[in-house]
Amino acid sequence: MARIDPAKQTRQVLKPAAVITGATRGIGRAFAEEFAGQGHTVLLAARNEAGLAEIAELIAVKHDVGVYYVSCDLATPEGCDKIEEALRTHGLYCESLVNNAAMMTAGFFQDQERDALLKTVDLNFRAVVDLTRRFLPDMLARGAGGILNVSSVEGFMPVPYHATYAATKAAMISWSRALAYEVMGTGVRVCMVAPGMIETDIHTAGGAENSRYALYLPKMKPGRLAEAAYRRFKHGNWVIIEGWLNRMFVGLARFVPGYFLIPSSGWFFQVRNEDGKPVEPEPLEHPDARTGDTDDGKV
Ligand SMILES: NC(=O)c1ccc[n+]([C@@H]2O[C@H](COP(=O)([O-])OP(=O)(O)OC[C@H]3O[C@@H](n4cnc5c(N)ncnc54)[C@H](OP(=O)(O)O)[C@@H]3O)[C@@H](O)[C@H]2O)c1
Repeated sequence: MARIDPAKQTRQVLKPAAVITGATRGIGRAFAEEFAGQGHTVLLAARNEAGLAEIAELIAVKHDVGVYYVSCDLATPEGCDKIEEALRTHGLYCESLVNNAAMMTAGFFQDQERDALLKTVDLNFRAVVDLTRRFLPDMLARGAGGILNVSSVEGFMPVPYHATYAATKAAMISWSRALAYEVMGTGVRVCMVAPGMIETDIHTAGGAENSRYALYLPKMKPGRLAEAAYRRFKHGNWVIIEGWLNRMFVGLARFVPGYFLIPSSGWFFQVRNEDGKPVEPEPLEHPDARTGDTDDGKV
């Protein structure tokens, strides 16, 4: 009796879909347009349900493809569960995963809320590992599909005042390139796009809108990035960097010594107020003042 390959059996029943996280605005929204424009059924994920519904309708009408959405907080494991549930509910399987959702935290590390920092790590990297672990095995079993990880040029260097955000992007770069090697020859692609400065709300939301990088670097449109990244994702490029300036920054980061690179990046990324003055760290209370201890240990 012929054996039925469970992966092939699943494919006959379920429809392929591109899962795009962080699709309500910015780069994620541009990816949603790009994938739909190329004829993919898409499942859009973000928290804002009304925003998702509006974009899903616009894209469905414009591109005449299946557009589904799921409202979920990807900084939590339950948010990732919801994406799997939504695929099941709509009779879909994940053929492409775009790990795009992220948040930025800017400023002196000690002045940033602990919850916001941990959420940044959870959303920007834990969710990426979680979703990939959920969907990659089936892609490998089918011998087709791809994962597109949206990192950042910031991931190629230490970035003072964006220390945690940039570190999540650095983790993504290392992890994505290693995975790309592991899946080589399987028919599955793992790619990483590292955008430079893109015209979106993330910098203002993170409190970095007056930093020099945000004011002075030329901004690329999300649509241009999404179009180029999609094209190179289809070719299976491991690392996608769009724009000569961004390629130059990445090249410099590789060769410029840390004693020059880190202060330069600090100069660019320092958080500033509306008048362009650097934001000072919050004054801190000496721990002894809280406990009443003196230097010699006597109260
Ligand atoms: N813009 C740039 O200059 C730039 C440069 C380099 C790299 N990038 C990277 O590009 C990606 C997209 O950035 P962007 O500028 O387009 O950001 P954005 O405009 O702030 O959009 C972020 C998206 O993520 C969603 N999101 C935020 N928190 C979420 C959560 N907890 N759970 C689920 N979804 C969540 C948001 O929707 P909801 O609020 O509805 O949840 C929104 O759709 C990020 O990975 C970012 O690091 C951006």
